[in-house]
Amino acid sequence: MGTHAVIHRTGGPEETASVAAELAATLRPGDCVALHGELGAGKTQFVRGLVIGLGGPERHVSSPTFVLLNVYSGGRLNLYHLDAYRVTGAEDFEAIGFPELLEQGGVVAVEWADRVTSLLPARRIDVTLETVDETSRIIRIERLGVW
Ligand SMILES: Nc1ncnc2c1ncn2[C@@H]1O[C@H](COP(=O)(O)OP(=O)(O)OP(=O)(O)O)[C@@H](O)[C@H]1O
Ligand SMILES: [Mg+2]
Repeated sequence: MGTHAVIHRTGGPEETASVAAELAATLRPGDCVALHGELGAGKTQFVRGLVIGLGGPERHVSSPTFVLLNVYSGGRLNLYHLDAYRVTGAEDFEAIGFPELLEQGGVVAVEWADRVTSLLPARRIDVTLETVDETSRIIRIERLGVW
């Protein structure tokens, strides 16, 4: 098994989106992308890149903080975009059907994934974004579990 992390440093949101689009090309049905990083680190920019990489119509991508779930369809795979920021416990996330979403044959991307760790599949891709300065981010991509 062994873990294998890839680290990128980006100089702006477009570069972060490109890194994500590259990852999107490798995604398969049922994959889960767990996003970590503080406010403004670029989690949503990363998801925007996933949507671009999966193809389909151009879409506005924003944090689903209040609606909890956005669905981007029309690309190679559907993308289910969730945000656990306002979730108080794993039960909330369970109630909105997170476990079932993983079985829909699409890709599931979760912002603030550490708030629902107990529900995340063992086999997932952890993406951690760290703010270096206004325009620079360090992005760590690690596949966990058996691939
Ligand atoms: N290298 C970079 N990568 C990503 N975003 C960047 C970068 N440099 C600057 N930014 C800016 O940082 C902000 C990132 O916002 P984004 O909404 O993606 O963060 P977030 O992690 O989703 O925050 P939240 O926790 O509030 O949902 C955007 O305004 C973007 O333009
Ligand atoms: Mg966000």
